[in-house]
Amino acid sequence: MNNVDLSTQIAGVALDSYIMNASGPKCTNLEELTVIGESNSAAIMTKSCTIAPREGNPLPRYQDLPLGSIQSMGLPNLGYKAYLEMIPALKQHGKPVVVSISGFSVEDNIEMVSAFQQSDVDLIEVNFSCPNIVGKAQVAYDFEQTEKSLAAITALGDKPIGIKLAPYFDMSHFIAMANILKRYPVKFITCINSIGNTLVIDPITEQPIIKPKGGFGGLCGEYIKPIGLANVRAFRQLLDDDIQIIGVGGISNGVDAFEYLLAGADAVQVATCFEKQGPNCFQRIEAELALFMANKGYDCLADAKGRLKPL
Ligand code: SIN
Repeated sequence: MNNVDLSTQIAGVALDSYIMNASGPKCTNLEELTVIGESNSAAIMTKSCTIAPREGNPLPRYQDLPLGSIQSMGLPNLGYKAYLEMIPALKQHGKPVVVSISGFSVEDNIEMVSAFQQSDVDLIEVNFSCPNIVGKAQVAYDFEQTEKSLAAITALGDKPIGIKLAPYFDMSHFIAMANILKRYPVKFITCINSIGNTLVIDPITEQPIIKPKGGFGGLCGEYIKPIGLANVRAFRQLLDDDIQIIGVGGISNGVDAFEYLLAGADAVQVATCFEKQGPNCFQRIEAELALFMANKGYDCLADAKGRLKPL
């Protein structure tokens, strides 16, 4: 390794490195979260939880694709009380623990945020963007609902709250969402969730390749990196510095992480690459990022953060 300092912080919570797991693959039970605790992931991020345990959507609900994956997991999780109970064990790994919650109503999110506010968890990420629940719209695409939810969940305690956003594709939506976020004490946003409701068809079988929702699912991995970068960049330009940004979407090597750094991300999360390659990916991406930055003469993340150069 070289001397590039990859340490960072989110809402004052120190992270030893720039790279952590995303709420998504392999972070649902204690065994999986322990593997993340023992890896180089800078934090332990849980699967998005709901009030009650969920089996999730019918199988097959995940398929690898050449440059990523499509999934419609449907929030399989153990229910929030199980994650509350796990926090002391997870904290033993000596790194921050981040809980992801994904209620089906404002009331659900109030119940879960209130409970985690009383716990030793370090950060709370509220998922406003799961595209895979039949009959439930993504909160992040409903600005009225977003505002109502933010008003309720940011008033429940001092533990830092972040929001996982859906990808946006129109400048008016970036501006509208940024203006809402500025009105509440949101400490960070996580950009982006998968691109929801995409369809991959197998021309041989003439069927979709996943079962839930007639084959509609979230597109993940390298396909979505340009969209993730644009969302991080747009929000970095629109928000004040008191709202930090965690980048996610298509990071599978150190150069990908560096691109998110240039766009303005304070930390990044890895989902599909972790799903496909396992926990060693965190150490590899970290080493690649450090080497790439060292070769450019950078000493620390701040040297390049948000410093995308004009063409
Ligand atoms: C899922 O469990 O369906 C994925 C979670 C998400 O997209 O937020």
